[in-house]
Amino acid sequence: MPDLFYTMQKSCFLDQKLQSYTESDCYPFHMPGHKRGNLELPNPYSIDITEIEGFDNLHHPEGILQDAQSRAAEAFGANETFYLINGSTSGILSAISAALPRKGTLLMSRNSHKSAYHAAYLMELETIYLLPMAAKFGISGSIPPVFVEQALNDFPQINGVFITSPTYDGIVSDIQAIADLVHARNLPLIVDEAHGAHFSFSDRFPRPALKCGADIVIQSLHKTLPCLTQTALLHVNSSRVDTGLLKRFLNIYQTSSPSYLLMASMEQCTRFMQEEGAERMEQFTELLDQFYKNAENLRRLKVFHRDSCSDETCFDHDFSKILISTGNTGLTGIQLYHMLLQNYHLQMEMSSGHYVTALTSLMDRPQGFQRLISALEETDRKTRPSEPVRPDRLLTAEMIYQIPKPGMSISAAIDQNSDILPLKASTGHTSQEYIYLYPPGIPLVAPGEILTGKLLSTISQCRKQGLSITGPTDMKNENIRVVKL
Ligand SMILES: Cc1ncc(COP(=O)(O)O)c(C=O)c1O
Repeated sequence: MPDLFYTMQKSCFLDQKLQSYTESDCYPFHMPGHKRGNLELPNPYSIDITEIEGFDNLHHPEGILQDAQSRAAEAFGANETFYLINGSTSGILSAISAALPRKGTLLMSRNSHKSAYHAAYLMELETIYLLPMAAKFGISGSIPPVFVEQALNDFPQINGVFITSPTYDGIVSDIQAIADLVHARNLPLIVDEAHGAHFSFSDRFPRPALKCGADIVIQSLHKTLPCLTQTALLHVNSSRVDTGLLKRFLNIYQTSSPSYLLMASMEQCTRFMQEEGAERMEQFTELLDQFYKNAENLRRLKVFHRDSCSDETCFDHDFSKILISTGNTGLTGIQLYHMLLQNYHLQMEMSSGHYVTALTSLMDRPQGFQRLISALEETDRKTRPSEPVRPDRLLTAEMIYQIPKPGMSISAAIDQNSDILPLKASTGHTSQEYIYLYPPGIPLVAPGEILTGKLLSTISQCRKQGLSITGPTDMKNENIRVVKL
């Protein structure tokens, strides 16, 4: 193992550690999508300015920034596009706040990012959840349109719908069919496409939500395209949402000092995708095709394939997200994640109990894919045959994500007086905190929900497997804040 790798582990100053990582031979199968390859931005300090003459104001755009946003709208196929410099997080907060009335009712997929829950808190919304199907591979699948239809029939008070598609794992829902159902009631559909900004540039990927009729679509540029972290876009494609209100909320949730460095990166990314996107995406999909073909020869490690999307549990899959299952080996996902890092210097995006995720983008290089397949082949050869699959290792999405009994709304719970209880002794109490599995940051429990024995045992299983649980104020996750009786 090169010394540099050890140096990196020992560095204690962030800037120095980042420098060592950059200089190491560690390959990034993680975000951001630029894969640490510079497009052509100059020294960051040299272009880091404030709203000086001629450079417009993102909160009141009339010049170069207004033009830049129009160019983004054209490139991504929207009526109107807003630059987000506080990530998709700020776009989701703004979209939900603008599209729903205060104290209204939001129908949302349970596997939503925490920002959707935070918007529900800030707007004092009632939340009704859509639980995704359990897909093959033990991951959360699509939200079938029939679930949306059922919820809209059962809860006529719903004011808007929020769907995450693709998920962190790349699972896509049938947005076209969902949009038709939502629009039949003249309600707005917001799609969190944070992980799908690349869909607009190649038809080898799922159809972008903007083309499927969504009213608002939020995309993180930094996740899958060559753009700096925190950059994202909010697209509007209908008159069902008041853009005046949207601008008001973007003003509230975004910093008053938008970084010109980030905005320059967005402009550059948009231009790059318009000029070279089609060709680069074609080269990228060829690399992916070759990788998936090679992966078919693995004996025990298994790679999730789009063909697994043959039923309602999985409408479509973004195959740039490579999911590698350890289900048929003696390894947990976390063990494989560490082996790939320590033995092969391949940094994965995340690991779950039984799989790891490699995020790829059009900026990935052929040798990256080659290193990944070689590492998987060697690891596959080394795993012992017919290793029994221990049930406690297969902590599937279906087991992890349930919707606990709601006691009260998120905001009603957070705004009450609290008690702090040992987590173990909290059964039957109403949680005032989130408990997330991170990544992907989807709540196992949200404020206002009743803590059940089943939920507490899932949390303890996740912890035993070394999965990261976050959310409670008590960083050790031993105590939880509950609503005072
Ligand atoms: C599904 C989903 N939506 C939204 C976000 C927030 O995106 P950002 O990091 O750009 O704020 C994330 C972040 O990981 C996410 O996974």
